[in-house]
Amino acid sequence: MAQPATTTYRVWDRSVRIFHWVNFTTVLLLLGIGLIIYNGKALGVSAEAKVFLKTFHVWVGYVMALNLIWRFLWGFVGSRYARWGAALPFGPGYFGELGAYLRSLGGGEPRRYLGHNPLGRLMVLVLLVLLATQAVTGLVLAGTDIYYPPLGGWIAGWVAAPGVDPATLIPGSKDMVDPAAWEAMRAFRKPYIEIHEIVFFVLSGAAVLHILAVVVGEIKERAGLVSAMIHGYKTPDRTPADLPEQE
Ligand code: HEM
Repeated sequence: MAQPATTTYRVWDRSVRIFHWVNFTTVLLLLGIGLIIYNGKALGVSAEAKVFLKTFHVWVGYVMALNLIWRFLWGFVGSRYARWGAALPFGPGYFGELGAYLRSLGGGEPRRYLGHNPLGRLMVLVLLVLLATQAVTGLVLAGTDIYYPPLGGWIAGWVAAPGVDPATLIPGSKDMVDPAAWEAMRAFRKPYIEIHEIVFFVLSGAAVLHILAVVVGEIKERAGLVSAMIHGYKTPDRTPADLPEQE
């Protein structure tokens, strides 16, 4: 049954909206600071400035990682469209829904959704996996590069030269470290920095794709996606395919 275009639904709860904008801001900062660290030599960044940038990057990273953990938990207890059953590309009926959505796209009249459309659910999964990978590898690097938690204490204890208090090690300096332990630690770190760099590029591409998809949704489906992520409400112009059962 067609709904009047004025029917308004509450879709995104406060937790999802706060998560989204904290994630948006921290990821943008992490991409920007990461890009400077990555091009440090070419940009003439001094060793001290690099340690400062890494420290700032790690503090922003903590916020991003905690926010991500919160969102992960909220997916089990949050409101209808926040839950993983609605937000991820799993569960009964997903592939049927994806087929119906793709056919409707091909027909030029895309089905409307209150939550994410089936392609959006796929994108949510990709983005969350990439973000979780950055958080895990970043937390390891925080330990190996600047001796920050959660692994920093253990890493400092590993590389400190005999008789040196691990707490006195200076990030970025090889003074007071045991050369053999230092080399072993750098070998341990290598796959993490490689993954962190690769995912940085993949995530940058995925973020651009995500923003493009939102822009297309706004123009073609008049979906009000950005404003819904601010105030939580959507007013679809046609009956959505994912209306709650009782409505
Ligand atoms: C969206 C999330 C993130 C992005 C896009 C990102 C991106 C980057 C990039 C591009 C670099 C430079 C790599 C290089 O120099 O080779 C970097 C370095 C680093 N990141 Fe992240 N990062 C993210 C999250 C995190 C998190 C959550 C943490 C830890 C809490 C973290 C900790 C670090 C550290 C310690 C380095 C220095 C590694 C080094 O170059 O020696 N990152 N990050």
